[in-house]
Amino acid sequence: MPATVIVGAQWGDEGKGKIVDLLAQDSDLVCRYQGGPNAGHTIVVDGETFKIRQIPSGVLRGKTCVIGAGCVVDPEVFLTEVDELESRGLSTRTVHLSGEAHLIMPWHVAIDQASERRLGNLQIGTTKRGIGPCYADKAARLGIRVQDLLDPKILRQKIEVALAEKNVWLERVYGVPPLNLEEIAGNLESFAQRIRSYVSDTSLLVDRALHEGREVLLEGAQGTLLDLDHGTYPFVTSSNTVAGNAATGIGIGPNRIDRVLGVTKAYVTRVGEGPFPTEIEGPDQERVRDLGGEYGTVTGRTRRCGWLDLVALRFAVRVNGITSLALTKLDVLSSFDEIPVCVRYRLPDRSETEDFPAHQSDFHHCAPVFETLAGWNEDLTGSALPGAAADYVSFVSDALDVPVTLVGTGASRDAVLSLQP
Ligand code: GDP
Ligand code: IMO
Ligand code: MG
Repeated sequence: MPATVIVGAQWGDEGKGKIVDLLAQDSDLVCRYQGGPNAGHTIVVDGETFKIRQIPSGVLRGKTCVIGAGCVVDPEVFLTEVDELESRGLSTRTVHLSGEAHLIMPWHVAIDQASERRLGNLQIGTTKRGIGPCYADKAARLGIRVQDLLDPKILRQKIEVALAEKNVWLERVYGVPPLNLEEIAGNLESFAQRIRSYVSDTSLLVDRALHEGREVLLEGAQGTLLDLDHGTYPFVTSSNTVAGNAATGIGIGPNRIDRVLGVTKAYVTRVGEGPFPTEIEGPDQERVRDLGGEYGTVTGRTRRCGWLDLVALRFAVRVNGITSLALTKLDVLSSFDEIPVCVRYRLPDRSETEDFPAHQSDFHHCAPVFETLAGWNEDLTGSALPGAAADYVSFVSDALDVPVTLVGTGASRDAVLSLQP
């Protein structure tokens, strides 16, 4: 019963989409277990670029795709993505949407935007797609779910009840115009007609596939350090991104998961606010950003860039149970003579640690301790890595005691080297 979780080991945008696309070749199902249209995966196929937000990356390989109960779904984004994929010749008939997933409603987006504005300097830097407010309503048991789209009467009633309260918030707390009931209900009813055919019992579908011995990929969105419980709170997303949540988010037992593949860049990026110990000071930050094309897939925002952080990566190995790593974007470092790698943090009391601080004050005030590795100054287009690039990869896997089995050497679908563990 082979199920593999593919999880981002940093702050998102590690190149998960590309790795899922690669492994989807030999898989039968590709399932998303959390998150929503805050995700943005760029996949380059034969020079053509696909940017996917809501639908699992396996759709590009024509695989059965599942959006699990733990996801939040913006119906308009979902249908726009369906239309775009179909117009480019890709079928979305293989996409299955859990009836238990929660819907991102227009008020969630409005509140996300207004709340960030109100926070001013204290803002989180969200993607403003309504993710936090939607998960908050889910936890408060006020949410509207995909299955509510199937019954127009229930849908209308739920929208009416929710909007009566949300409009008070929008007007009185955030000072923004209220939303119109008829307009929202009308739009939702027309989305419902189209979404109906995608709704399935996805827990049953995945469980049966596993019993039949099919290969299942469980695709994480965001990354470990954005996990609601284990990430750099409050600068996190509003769901559990870690591998353990793959079982909950799909509705299968945790004993069904065999492997956990962590995806990490050969350096680090972060979008939005929050502490970032290895953020590069000086012109090298812009150099990495330009070489790596580090601009957000969803928001177009500039990504902050830092050197590889082995302390944070060790933490990701621990909280996810990572069994192997894909190290992406190694090519981006090819023109650097020397490459710093963070091996420890120095804490405010001057002690040094290889383990991620459990207390946020230590993390906010820690300083990275770097070791400098030699660069390779060669491109990585060959079938084997140049010596110094291979040493860089070994340094990472030795420090973490986890094999690096895949190395990303370019954006295109086939620019990946497979390494023997
Ligand atoms: P995701 O959200 O984790 O799927 O990552 P994103 O798609 O947001 O960001 C990763 C970016 O790096 C995308 O533009 C990919 O096309 C690109 N990419 C992925 N792997 C590699 C690689 O090995 N080398 C280079 N140069 N680009 C890569
Ligand atoms: P993928 O799947 C990088 C970040 C936002 C913000 C925080 C909270 O492409 O790796 P949210 O809108 O989720 O409430 O924002 O999380 N964030 C991401 N950063 N990649 C993502 O997704 C992200 N999804 C959310 O920038 O800091
Ligand atoms: Mg991304």
